[in-house]
Amino acid sequence: DTRVGISLTINGETRALQVAPWTSLLDLLREQLDLTGTKKGCDHGQCGACTVLINGIRVNSCLTLAVMKDGAEITTVEGLSALAAGGAGANGLHPIQDAFIAHDAFQCGYCTSGQLCSSVGLMNEGHAHSRDEIREAMSGNLCRCGAYTNIVDAIEDVMQ
Ligand code: FES
Repeated sequence: DTRVGISLTINGETRALQVAPWTSLLDLLREQLDLTGTKKGCDHGQCGACTVLINGIRVNSCLTLAVMKDGAEITTVEGLSALAAGGAGANGLHPIQDAFIAHDAFQCGYCTSGQLCSSVGLMNEGHAHSRDEIREAMSGNLCRCGAYTNIVDAIEDVMQ
């Protein structure tokens, strides 16, 4: 057995896990832990669908080996509401999730988990002072439906 023991705190819950050294964080989340909110688009760092937060920083989980993140805090879309500074809204969502709904910031929804995690990450980074800055900071998250204008609207709304 080549698996390695690591500990990850995922959405606030610390777990002892056995993972193969070549397992991506994305596959660990989806296949081993059934956290399927995080999506696999390209599986090689091109689309952003797999974006999660590691210690508050957004990363492509498809490019991240799980074993390298021993001890890290991971937040997936399933845990975003717990990060809301003022607490989750009435419907239990993070304000950015409410804003995506209010602004129709998705069509098929496949990229949305990544867009949401990336939005929270860019707010943590302080990169959302103008529409241009938001567009630039979100450029790693592709949307094949082209909902970009509404995504920027939603992020701008939460940042105001
Ligand atoms: Fe990771 Fe596309 S699935 S960037």
